[in-house]
Amino acid sequence: MRIVLLGAPGSGKGTQAHRLAESRGIPQISTGDLLRAAVTRGTPLGLQAKAAMESGALVDDALVLGMIRERLADPDARAGFILDGFPRNLVQAAALDGLLAELGQPLDAVVQFEVANDELVRRISGRRTCADCGRVFNVLTSPPSGAAAVCPRTGAAHRLMQRADDNEVTVAERLRVYAQKTRPLTEFYRKRGILRVINAEGPVDAVAQRLADALTGAPAATPAAARVRKSAAKRARPKSAAPTKARRGRAARSTARRAKPARKAVRVRTARKKRAAAPRRRKSGARRGTRR
Ligand code: AP5
Repeated sequence: MRIVLLGAPGSGKGTQAHRLAESRGIPQISTGDLLRAAVTRGTPLGLQAKAAMESGALVDDALVLGMIRERLADPDARAGFILDGFPRNLVQAAALDGLLAELGQPLDAVVQFEVANDELVRRISGRRTCADCGRVFNVLTSPPSGAAAVCPRTGAAHRLMQRADDNEVTVAERLRVYAQKTRPLTEFYRKRGILRVINAEGPVDAVAQRLADALTGAPAATPAAARVRKSAAKRARPKSAAPTKARRGRAARSTARRAKPARKAVRVRTARKKRAAAPRRRKSGARRGTRR
């Protein structure tokens, strides 16, 4: 399956993409992770991306597109992939369409994660990543515990680090950039008929279940979706066989309103008939009475 996960910073794309990749045996491709790795290694790409990432801006489209083109050409992406954090704007989305058309591998689904802003900020402020194995934790919602407390790379406790761009100023800018540049992708994919929207708040397992449902085409339990379903059900509900007094009143008034123009037409026709039946006045007489 070829999937895109869309959502604001901290909405849980990485967390869910990681789980989905494990359960489906397809790679998680995170442009954020690829860029951070390039920055850490000090590659030319990393050096170019660093300033934008530190400020919360988007990295240049050409750099990101080159990186994605290369990654999608890897053999493990042939069976499918989960794009996490890409595309980020309309230019990237159009380029992805073109690239996947070239490969003959169109997207199957785009899932939009919905999380309230204050919860996004809470999650980001608690996020910590193990410097050795890269596993993501949250000191507020999911600290390392039990078997997960030991780093599989070192066999010791995880060395938890905070991401450089997880500070108050940069987070505010990332949220602004998301609203301005990434949010419009919702409409882009809705028009293509492949968008699913899920409520990404609540326990990680519950979100994973909603994501799985969305990917199998089951209706997602979002508040917005629930409202849409409720109003659709209301429209489709059959009218009661025994109308209430109020309904009878409304129906009678509306019938009367509809009947008004018809009654007017009858009056006009009757008047015409009367005029036709009346003895005709002589035109000359009529003229005689005309003032000059
Ligand atoms: P990137 O790394 O993609 O960051 P992001 O999109 O801002 O997303 P995050 O990684 O912050 O959040 P997430 O949704 O993955 O949440 P997570 O699962 O970690 O990009 C970083 C930068 O790189 C960008 O600012 C930009 O400069 C550049 N960049 C990247 N891609 C680019 C592109 N395509 N074009 C241009 N530039 C690009 O969860 C967050 C925390 O919450 C974690 O601690 C987690 O444990 C916790 N959590 C997750 N789910 C739950 C839950 N259900 N309940 C409670 N806590 C939860």
